[in-house]
Amino acid sequence: MKKISVKTSHPYEVLIQRGGLAHCGEYISEVTKSRKAAIITDDIVEKLHLQTALDSMKAAGFECSVFVFPNGEQSKCLENLGKIYDFLCENNITRSDIIVALGGGVVGDITGFAAASYLRGVEFVQIPTTLLAQVDSSVGGKTAIDIAGGKNLVGAFKQPALVICDSDILKTLKPETLAEGMGECIKYGMIRDEKLFELMESKDLDTVDDIMDEMVYACIDIKRIVVEHDEFDRGERMVLNFGHTLGHALEGWHNYKGIAHGEAVAAGMCMITDRLAPQLADRLRKVCEAYRLPTGSDIPMGELLPFCSKDKKNEAKDINYIICNEIGKGEIVKVPFTEFCRLMEG
Ligand code: GLY
Repeated sequence: MKKISVKTSHPYEVLIQRGGLAHCGEYISEVTKSRKAAIITDDIVEKLHLQTALDSMKAAGFECSVFVFPNGEQSKCLENLGKIYDFLCENNITRSDIIVALGGGVVGDITGFAAASYLRGVEFVQIPTTLLAQVDSSVGGKTAIDIAGGKNLVGAFKQPALVICDSDILKTLKPETLAEGMGECIKYGMIRDEKLFELMESKDLDTVDDIMDEMVYACIDIKRIVVEHDEFDRGERMVLNFGHTLGHALEGWHNYKGIAHGEAVAAGMCMITDRLAPQLADRLRKVCEAYRLPTGSDIPMGELLPFCSKDKKNEAKDINYIICNEIGKGEIVKVPFTEFCRLMEG
């Protein structure tokens, strides 16, 4: 097993272990005195992994209640959050008990927000079941739901008590879901670690399992360093948004339906690199192709740019974008939005 200690305001460990799900009960029993747990999951993960988690929790002495909701982004909403609160209340979950998020980014985000707000805060554990959730959303404490005005607009910073990453779980993912997670892994290599980038260059989507633990560890460790420096996203943490300015624009243009987040990030990284760091464009495109990710878009830049200006992370007239002029060296650049448009269209 590999461990990463995250030293945020509420410190915790990330455990990376093949087969770790079958031991979740013993690991969770080390971060709580309570033996009462509420497990939140979705209907796809329920079929694949819930029993393994329950068996381990029961063997460790936990009494578990389980809430299952339909898989998909549409469940990351106020109505479902209300149902989770009711479930926690009906099952008498108190502030000394533990909530477990078993699933991908949607499960982790909404469960984390429920844990942040129910009874003004209950400890929670993340067991991410997608590559994207393992390397990104389960670590760093961002929790949220979507509202009509946009994605992730209501949320809180709530660091988990523990994260358990089991790379064997990733073998059950559809290839396109695995590829989506690779979009974020490639991002980490680009912004902070050329060796990690080279490791990913040495494999492709069919062979990535050979490097999975090493890759997941390297990605989470980069996120740890960034989040430890800027837990509340006021500066350096923005570097994690490489590929996201145009990526969010692509997702918005498609009304969040035709393109997955990690795919949009891959296309966004390639598009900005093509324009602003063409010396790296071939290498980035090749690695994205190896993981069956898009390397650009046919949508005219003029149609995408209005979606960039709606990015909630940008101040009124300026835009922060991330550029890598060398692999492993991501930089945050702040320019007037008009200048960003000129750079992208010029
Ligand atoms: N997913 C970006 C962040 O955690 O800041």
